[in-house]
Amino acid sequence: MAKATAKATAKATAKATAKATAKATALRMSRVWAMPNRWTFKVPPLLDIVLRYRHDGERWLDPFAGYHSPAEVTNDLNPKAPTQYHMEALRFVHRASRGGLQFEGAIMDPPYSLTQVSRNYAALGIEQWGKDNPTGGFSEVRDALTQAIVRGGHVISFGWNSVGQGKGRGFTLIEVLLCCHGGHRHDTIVVVERKL
Ligand SMILES: C[S@@+](CC[C@H](N)C(=O)[O-])C[C@H]1O[C@@H](n2cnc3c(N)ncnc32)[C@H](O)[C@@H]1O
Repeated sequence: MAKATAKATAKATAKATAKATAKATALRMSRVWAMPNRWTFKVPPLLDIVLRYRHDGERWLDPFAGYHSPAEVTNDLNPKAPTQYHMEALRFVHRASRGGLQFEGAIMDPPYSLTQVSRNYAALGIEQWGKDNPTGGFSEVRDALTQAIVRGGHVISFGWNSVGQGKGRGFTLIEVLLCCHGGHRHDTIVVVERKL
């Protein structure tokens, strides 16, 4: 009798472990079509994916927040953007996480190309790029975000590639969404990663 119980317990444990492992490694991939918009979060599926991960009351950070960010703590270099802060993204993340403060999630939606970076900076009258050279995909902002996010928290990145935070920074990829905009336009590629 005791042997049968032990066997059943072992079987149940193995099943639960297999389920947890599958859940941890399963990658969700999907593709949708949506009209393009210069503001990412005016595109419904691109806003929806953030709202699926950002639960009510959770503190999320957005260093490149633009005009329509669903995050709670927002920043944009452009002083006209309706964000709480207007500083270089890297400085903002360092400041927001000062004293070891951590957040449940972050949105990473910087300019998608060097041309976009140049246009943004020219529009703001900035002649020199910030300390965090955007040719590297704002890698210093990504490093700083890694410290600023709790274990189990999420970073959702938007762009024309699926690089994201990456394994090297201790993140696991859990979802990829391709948002096709038709014609000759680039898809918007969204990657959702969880901090391990
Ligand atoms: C792709 S847009 C973000 C759009 C936003 N998610 C929305 O839907 O409204 C990128 C934003 O990053 C800002 N930006 C560019 N370089 C920056 C920097 N170094 N630090 C902070 N913000 C920056 C731009 O002003 C622009 O609003």
